[in-house]
Amino acid sequence: MNHIIIGYAVLCLFIPWQAYAGDKEPDGKLLFENHGCTNCHGLNGVHPTSKYAPVLKGKPADYLIKKASAIFSGKRFSNNTRLMHEQFCIGDEKDEGCYPTPSNSELKKIAQWLSLGLAEKKKTPQALYVSAQGAYDKLQELDDKTLFIDIRTRAEVAFLGMPNDIDANIPYMTIGDYSEWNEKKQNFKLYPNSEFTLLIDEFVSKHGFDKDSPIILICRSGNRSAKAAKLLFATGYTNVYSVVDGFEGDKLKEGTRKGERIVNGWKNSGLPWSYKLKREAMYMEI
Ligand code: HEC
Repeated sequence: MNHIIIGYAVLCLFIPWQAYAGDKEPDGKLLFENHGCTNCHGLNGVHPTSKYAPVLKGKPADYLIKKASAIFSGKRFSNNTRLMHEQFCIGDEKDEGCYPTPSNSELKKIAQWLSLGLAEKKKTPQALYVSAQGAYDKLQELDDKTLFIDIRTRAEVAFLGMPNDIDANIPYMTIGDYSEWNEKKQNFKLYPNSEFTLLIDEFVSKHGFDKDSPIILICRSGNRSAKAAKLLFATGYTNVYSVVDGFEGDKLKEGTRKGERIVNGWKNSGLPWSYKLKREAMYMEI
């Protein structure tokens, strides 16, 4: 009898609390905005507006919680985390200029939202992602240690231009002889480049790199580069990054300019590129 009464009492306490929690607690995206995370990590945690803030979207929730907790607790401290420490007044006296630090449960919600945020198509099993801006910053620091490969078709790089820092154009897909049509995409059909992994292997060893060296792949907007990264992981590469917003970026989802690629990506981020291609970076024989 006793346990029935206790059970009933617990139920009475539990149900209203659940309903309250469900109604009132904002979701991860809202929490991300309310805590000011957007100011450095970008609206969706993908396109950092701050030079040093990494892409958060699409990274596993456990990883994000671990990393953020280390920063918020003051355990992780470096020149780069200093930005976060100052903004949230970590280890310092709070005044009205301090951003509110998220609680553990808030951080969990933020991390869960961020981990789901990247379009499925852009995800890779290793979750090594970088924005166009992040790729550029990484290359400024580590240029001689990182390979930056443009995997778009030759038509794309020929007519749309290419980032200045590209080491090679090795297409993951090719257009063929323009004789076939993709009805769904309303465009020419793309075929897998049968030599893709072979060409990457050759390029990597020719430049004295190996399968653990950092390689950054860029395509139009982060779909093909994710697929190509998966393929390279499958052939033993361990450190392949995908530029999540690519060279042209995502399409605008609403408004009068809907469908145009004016949102993000290398070109829209104002990073250096040119219509003039580097002969030594091109693969002529494909
Ligand atoms: C003032 C700018 C700024 C704000 C605001 C900010 N961050 Fe950061 N954050 C950074 C920088 C810079 C780094 C990179 C630190 C490093 O490289 O060591 C970072 C790193 C991180 C990382 C680690 C990522 C990784 O891959 O190692 C996480 C997670 C994170 N921030 C979450 C958040 C969350 C959640 C918020 C909001 C509650 C937030 N940040 C607000 C600047 C900021």
